[in-house]
Amino acid sequence: METNRKDDHIKYALKYQSPYNSFDDMELVHHSLPDYDLADIDLSTQFLGMDFDFPFYINAMTGGSKKGGEINQKLAQLAEATGIVMVTGSYSAAFKDPSDTSFQVKKNHPNLTLATNIGIDKDYHLGLRAVDDMQPAFLQVHVNLMQELLMPEGEREFRSWKKNLADYATKMPVPVMLKEVGFGLDLKTMEIAYGLGVRSFDISGRGGTSFAYIENERGGNRSYLNEWGQTTVQALLNAQPMMAKVDILASGGVRHPLDMIKCLVLGAKAVGLSKTALALVEDKTMEEAIATVNGWKDDLRLMMCALNCQKVSDLTKVDYMLYGKLNHLKKENLPKRS
Ligand code: FNR
Repeated sequence: METNRKDDHIKYALKYQSPYNSFDDMELVHHSLPDYDLADIDLSTQFLGMDFDFPFYINAMTGGSKKGGEINQKLAQLAEATGIVMVTGSYSAAFKDPSDTSFQVKKNHPNLTLATNIGIDKDYHLGLRAVDDMQPAFLQVHVNLMQELLMPEGEREFRSWKKNLADYATKMPVPVMLKEVGFGLDLKTMEIAYGLGVRSFDISGRGGTSFAYIENERGGNRSYLNEWGQTTVQALLNAQPMMAKVDILASGGVRHPLDMIKCLVLGAKAVGLSKTALALVEDKTMEEAIATVNGWKDDLRLMMCALNCQKVSDLTKVDYMLYGKLNHLKKENLPKRS
């Protein structure tokens, strides 16, 4: 029996350890005389015109297989219990099999804030169907060019992508976000997408899950591409000229609350976790996973206090230093600190 591609993604994503994570080359400047009590710290954030209680979310992963369905139920339980947003994996899998129930997590978890995801190769009519079926808070449209190119069964025609994106940006009844899958959105891509009407981006950079690695494990022979793309910190730095006019979200290689805080310092409105959330629900009991996520909230508050920030938006004023591979960045190219 052919093994399910979605199950391969889960298996190999859990196995991969990127040799380089850009968050390790960034340090935050500690503050010793805060203006706030710990109880003053507010973790709420805003993006896509909506308010969210916490600045991190479970990012798009799975659906479309039995195992994917089981993982979605666990992720939904975790997200509902902790009040964070969950984004399902690409909904396209549900179109292939009308009996598929792997995305239907709301029935068991009615208080969950749920979003969904679709590939940019899918015509917007399919996006409308996904929105109709899932009633998501927002829709992520993912670009996964390198993944498609590396998959033997992948897409080979890309000319329709811009037209599809323009349709998604203007014809969906819910807010839309353009998202990478771990190769990092670059500034030129974001500027083109902005011209097509997109106002929100998940830059999803390198440092965590590598779909190049996953495709190499699935039979490919281009392991030299495993670390293709822009790291998450580099992508966030590159995105600075867009920060004021769009909502930037960050993901890719986020392991713990310190990585989250670094994304927020660089201007992200919220931070997505895929592999880290997957490992939580696969390796721990639900009770432990919930306690871990609630602990992350405490840790974010603690670090915000130590950075003298009361609100998430205050974090953009925090000073930081770059080392190692990020150290080549010239001072004048760094985001302006007020
Ligand atoms: C993903 N990712 C993903 N992204 C997307 O937009 N649609 C999808 O269906 C999937 N599927 C998927 C499956 C699995 C098992 C993983 C681990 C990831 C990509 C994901 O949302 C994210 O962009 C990258 O994984 C980088 O983040 P992490 O894993 O380093 O936190």
